[in-house]
Amino acid sequence: MKIGVFDSGVGGLTVLRALLRRVPADYIYLGDTARLPYGAKSRETVGRYAVSSAKFLVEEQGAEFLVIACNTASALALDAIRDAVTVPVVGVVETGANAADASSRTRDVLVIATAATVASHAYAAACGERQLRAIEKACPLLVPLVEEGWIEHAVTAEVLRIYMAELMEQARAAGLDADTLVLGCTHYPLLRAQIEKAVPEKLRVIDSAEVTADQVAARLGMGGDGIEASAKFFATDSVAKFRALGSRFLGREIDGVELVELGG
Ligand code: DGL
Repeated sequence: MKIGVFDSGVGGLTVLRALLRRVPADYIYLGDTARLPYGAKSRETVGRYAVSSAKFLVEEQGAEFLVIACNTASALALDAIRDAVTVPVVGVVETGANAADASSRTRDVLVIATAATVASHAYAAACGERQLRAIEKACPLLVPLVEEGWIEHAVTAEVLRIYMAELMEQARAAGLDADTLVLGCTHYPLLRAQIEKAVPEKLRVIDSAEVTADQVAARLGMGGDGIEASAKFFATDSVAKFRALGSRFLGREIDGVELVELGG
């Protein structure tokens, strides 16, 4: 089976990494790096970019199943993508909310995400459907820091300290007793260790990569360890940058990235 995996950049490689371990398939990954960041853009723009990316994977690359490994595109454009292609589409907001549902005992959860994802309140809605109260916080500086490769950098640690202190204050003011923190952006798993250091220990951190892979495996009725899988990579901007940074996200060398032109 050919599975298309899409993100605005390299963040979705955290999802691909988990999928490669769980679901046997031929993967086609597209990082729309020329048009990143999606998280600072309007619903219309994100919709246009995400639909053209999805069509590239399905119509030009033959993907038979799509994983939208970008929370911003999942939050703002999932319906538009589903209308535009004929294959099944899984988005990471749904899988993240399912994981929060399974994790939370107190039924209060915190979500950090891009500004666009937070403004859409897609997580609050998905959590509400599962009888969870959610506080969403935009952390717009994190994606550029990760794209810059500043993972263990003192500046990133300080930015995280400030964001997490603000989030805890927001939760306290709203009277939430949160026990779960959802990383609502596929770039954030790379910062997981630093995020865990910046929040109280009782918060269980959920990253969309692992839970999405589990849920795709369940949906397709396949999965297991030591499976056979291959991956092909496309980027809309510098393939050298994608290869260098992407290797950190994927956890192994990436070779043979192809440049693709999807317009503005
Ligand atoms: N990785 C994207 C997400 O999960 C955000 C990156 C961007 O802003 O383009 O929301």
